[in-house]
Amino acid sequence: MNAPQPIQVVPRNGNGEPRRLQIKVLRHNPQLAGSVPHWQTYEIEEAHGMTLFIALTEIREKQDPSLQFDFVCRAGICGSCAMVIDGKPGLACRTLTKDHGRTITLAPLPFFELIGDLSVNTGQWMRAMSERLQGWLQMRDESPDIGRIEQPMDPDLADKIYELDRCIECGCCVAGCGTARMREDFVGAVGMNRVARFRLDPRDARDDADWYDIIGDDDGVFGCMSLLACHDLCPKDLPLATQIAFLRRAMVRQGVQA
Ligand code: SF4
Ligand code: F3S
Ligand code: FES
Repeated sequence: MNAPQPIQVVPRNGNGEPRRLQIKVLRHNPQLAGSVPHWQTYEIEEAHGMTLFIALTEIREKQDPSLQFDFVCRAGICGSCAMVIDGKPGLACRTLTKDHGRTITLAPLPFFELIGDLSVNTGQWMRAMSERLQGWLQMRDESPDIGRIEQPMDPDLADKIYELDRCIECGCCVAGCGTARMREDFVGAVGMNRVARFRLDPRDARDDADWYDIIGDDDGVFGCMSLLACHDLCPKDLPLATQIAFLRRAMVRQGVQA
């Protein structure tokens, strides 16, 4: 039988009342002429199990309909709510206010195009990265039998591919990476993870010579300086450090052989 879970308690102030949170948001709307980046602080009462998604929604509904931020799934699946939370990129929908102090600072992810306030355009960058890597299956078999419902695969291999397929393209790894700040076309940990995923897939036609042509340079795996913020920040706990190390070793081997 599972042990009973402790009851979550909303942190209280000295009077036993729920905390009054100060949510400090870096605001700027580049679409509006004259808009300049500035901090704006909102006060709300903390509720049981409150996430930053709930806090921001309450602020937008009750205090400031102009506040911009993105959410779709509210469950850590779509990747759209990534922002800088108290200085670290993370998912707002998976962040409980009780794990932070009374003042929580929120800023948009750096590096990506700013749409407004906490909303950034990660999609444009992810698409360019995907096109550069051709980050989709390049079928080894050019005339697959489409009448077959399933193609068998070794379950252990399928598990390994699934592990890497869990990336939600939130952009936290790119936003926290020093190399990405220096090199506009760097594919980032998200891109290297994508390559690692297709390198594992026996249905994909590409070999290491092909991958070397795509990521065997400073905008690919050799630009990575092993800063490992990507690994620490990934909200899906992808094994990025290991995958990048494997990939770098394979590309060095390929470069030496060529
Ligand atoms: Fe987000 Fe992790 Fe994918 Fe990077 S690798 S985009 S941090 S889920
Ligand atoms: Fe950046 Fe991660 Fe490499 S933080 S430098 S992609 S190890
Ligand atoms: Fe989808 Fe947060 S809203 S990951």
